Parts: sequence; C-alpha cells; structure tokens
Amino acid sequence: MNMKIALLAGDGIGPEVIDQAVKVSNAIATKFGHQITWTPALTGAAAIDAVGDPYPDETHAVCEAADAVLFGAIGLPRFDNDPSAKVRPEQGLLRMRKKLGLFANVRPTFTFPSLLDKSPLKQERIEGTDLVFLRELTGGIYFGKRGREDQGDTAFDTCTYTREEIVRLAKKGFELARTRSKKLCCVDKANVLETSRLWRETVQGMEKDYPDVEVSYELVDAVAMRLVQWPNSYDVLITENLFGDILTDEASVISGSMGLMPSASIGNENALYEPIHGSFPQATGLDIANPLATILSAAMMFEMSFDLHEEGTLIRKVVDQSLADGVVTEDLANGGKAYKTSEVGDYLAGLIAKA
Ligand code: IPM
Ligand code: MG
Repeated sequence: MNMKIALLAGDGIGPEVIDQAVKVSNAIATKFGHQITWTPALTGAAAIDAVGDPYPDETHAVCEAADAVLFGAIGLPRFDNDPSAKVRPEQGLLRMRKKLGLFANVRPTFTFPSLLDKSPLKQERIEGTDLVFLRELTGGIYFGKRGREDQGDTAFDTCTYTREEIVRLAKKGFELARTRSKKLCCVDKANVLETSRLWRETVQGMEKDYPDVEVSYELVDAVAMRLVQWPNSYDVLITENLFGDILTDEASVISGSMGLMPSASIGNENALYEPIHGSFPQATGLDIANPLATILSAAMMFEMSFDLHEEGTLIRKVVDQSLADGVVTEDLANGGKAYKTSEVGDYLAGLIAKA
C-alpha cells in the first residue's frame, strides 16, 4: 500500500519521539511491503518562530493532501508564562482540529501487565483496565463565544452544542462499543448544564438503533471518582470537549506513565494521531523522552486509517516485548538501566525486522 503521511513534529520532545515513530513505521513498511511518503510541516512554537503562525496555511495544505497526520507535541513555557501572548502554540492545535474537522478524539487507557507496579493506584484496582474515551473535539466551551466585559474585570466563555455534533460523536461511541464489550457510558453534568441535558436526550434517542449496546448515564464528577476507584468497570465513554480533556489526563495515570498513551483524532475526511503527553520542554534534545505513546499512535494509524491490523498488532507486540526486556526510557527504568529515546526506537525497529 502507498501511504502519504504528514509529519508534524512540533515543539519540545516532539521531534525526538516522532523520529522513533517514523523509524518503527518504516520498519513495518519494509516488512509488509508498503511505501510511506512522509511530508514534514511546521506547527506550534516552531511555526510561530518561523512564520508567525502556529498552524500556517502551508501546513494545513500538507495535512489535507495526506492520508493521515502524525503529530508530536506542541507548547513551550515561554508562551504559558505570558498570558498576554498574542499567538500561542495551542491556538494552532485547536485551529488544526477545527479546520481538519477532527471531531472525535479517541483516547484509550490500558495497563501493561509488566508495569502494574508503576501506577500510583493499587494493582488490584487497575488490573485488566481497558477503556476508551471518545472526547468531542471541535465544539463546546473550547470554541464558544468568549470575551471580557466590565472594563476587563468580567470574563466569559460559553459552551454550545448542536444535536448534530452530539449525534456524530455518539455514533462513533456506539459503533466502537459494538466492537468491544458493548457498554457505553455517556458522561455529562445533566443535573446542572443545558448542553448536558441535550447530550443525554440525544444519546437516549439513539439507544433504539443500538439495542445490543448497554448505555449508562453518569455525572462527570462521579466518573472522576469512579475512574480511579474502579477503572476496570468502564469500557467506552463518550463526553464533551472539556470534560474529556480533564478525564483523559486523569485516566492516563492509571497506566503508570503518561509516556505510554496514544490517541487518534478522527473526522470524516482527515485523521490525526498523537501521543497524549505534552512537549516536556525540560527534556528537549536530551534523548530521554519515552517514545512509546507516539509509536503506539502510529499503530493506531495503521489500523484506523489504513485498515492494516497485522501491522498495528506487530507494533503493539514489540512494544510489549521491549517492556518485558527492560529496554525502556528512564521514566520506566525503575532504577535499572535507562535507555535513550533513540535506542528504544532502534530496538523496536530491530524486533520488527526480525519478526
Ligand atoms: C489535549 C491538550 C490540549 C487540549 C491543549 C494543549 C490545548 O490538553 O490535547 O488534551 O486542551 O485539548
Ligand atoms: Mg489535555
């Protein structure tokens, strides 16, 4: 198969972890006889510095022309610490999501048997956890009207959802639940928020089309609690943008390292794959960041954008192997030898070549 992939490395450790995902993907391409054309493009602070825009039109054109986008990370502290900054790297990410129509953010959380002791949660609580959040990504308070009034002393952000936006996200949730254990949890705040009541009403209205899926409705505050108490009681969860942002960070600690969790952002025309961790600026250039989340994002890309399941499975298999062999970066080294980012990438590519 021929695959055209846009490569948006971004800031901080982005380029280093992206390099490893490229290495591993190229090893997969060689093994299975595929051709991958990588087209790099600028985004984030790197793009602000080069052309004054975190998501330049040229980058958008590269993403639109590609079959999929592989994304590293964006953001740098010099922007975070300056509330008056006119352009921010994050604006690039939000604009990219909106312009590419990436409305469904798929964020799985699972545990690795060899890393159960890395989680701050008790082993018996997290064992067997395998859940997926579907976070709505192009609506809600992230994209609503915002501003200042009262000479700047009052600020507001508004949350808006249309039935159509809820339906298209929920549809993905029902379909995903069907391929798993057929349990769907709709997370909202319907006891307070009108948008949440529309979510609940809309999802309830869809239940009859999916009689095989068991749907539960839970309030976001209760989910925040149960997620760390009984994570293995969840399967597929659907939720709006901000709730999803918060809960998926919470869920990422279950696995024991943020450096492990991949994600996909899917639309009708485009798809983007990225690690859920940020740009980890302190580690930039040190070759110490964990590349596994990006590599597992590439596995999701093979499966979801190209229907190449054997390829995705092999990536997951060699990742498990590297964890079992202790070929891991310092966040997982447990006092043992810490391998470099690039060494982990080399090891995985080598395992794929030998498989
Ligand atoms: C995420 C991030 C982004 C978000 C930031 C960087 C704008 O936290 O992808 O979860 O809030 O969506
Ligand atoms: Mg977030």
